[in-house]
Amino acid sequence: MTNDILTLLNQHRSIRQFTDQPVTNDEVTTLVAAAQHAATSTFAQQYSIISITDPAIKRALGDITGHHWLEKSGHYFMLIADQHRNLKIAERANADPAILRSFDKFMASAFDVAIAAEAIVTAGESIGLGSTIMGSILNHTQRVIELLNLPELTFPLLGLAIGHPAEQPDLKPRLPQSLMHFSNQYALPADFDSQMAAYDTVTADYYAHRNSHLKKTTFSQHIVQELGRNPKLRAELVQVIQQQGFNIN
Ligand SMILES: Cc1cc2nc3c(=O)[nH]c(=O)nc-3n(C[C@H](O)[C@H](O)[C@H](O)COP(=O)(O)O)c2cc1C
Repeated sequence: MTNDILTLLNQHRSIRQFTDQPVTNDEVTTLVAAAQHAATSTFAQQYSIISITDPAIKRALGDITGHHWLEKSGHYFMLIADQHRNLKIAERANADPAILRSFDKFMASAFDVAIAAEAIVTAGESIGLGSTIMGSILNHTQRVIELLNLPELTFPLLGLAIGHPAEQPDLKPRLPQSLMHFSNQYALPADFDSQMAAYDTVTADYYAHRNSHLKKTTFSQHIVQELGRNPKLRAELVQVIQQQGFNIN
């Protein structure tokens, strides 16, 4: 089965190199509108988007993420978990806003942000733009909060670099559905090891032959390498989320 939307979704790849062609204001408005029309938990619209145009802030985000290529993107969005606006509404109504501080509401904001980000990615691809969602802004959230002047009950969750692609990376092969789509109950297949070995062969081949950043690794090795990340890098995360007024423990 196929159609234009399925083709677009199945051709997704993250883009990290951009031409100098800017993203127009019209395109930015179109992308934000697409994000706004995504589903939003309890219709609370509990996220905000900040367009980063100041080169100094982009440079700082380059330092935080280690991804200075973001400075060359046509446009940069920050997606913010936002219960602050709804706090204002609660205060105006003299209603108890306690629930806005809950872990549940923090998660709802996180879901809204993630879904909005994907809508921007897909809308962008539909008009010829490529993008990369960037969780690496979480490397130093306190600094991001200061840079963007984020108030109580907001939290920076994702960056998103978007622009006209100057690369066409090969498609990254995904897991076979048998290893990630189950029926009624969670059930990895009995031949997990051999299916994973087959996928490791596919990913090794992809990494060895893709059109840039060649490396010798498999999906399993990639997962194990990820375990070796410096645990101190994001040690402040829970504390900063709490400091912003969310009651997560
Ligand atoms: C929540 C999230 C955070 C991500 N953070 C980063 C990031 O900080 N830097 C980056 O280069 N790519 C980032 N990515 C992109 C992934 O690396 C990419 O989607 C994955 O390798 C699959 O490649 P593809 O998107 O080209 O298919 C992120 C993706 C998601 C969904």
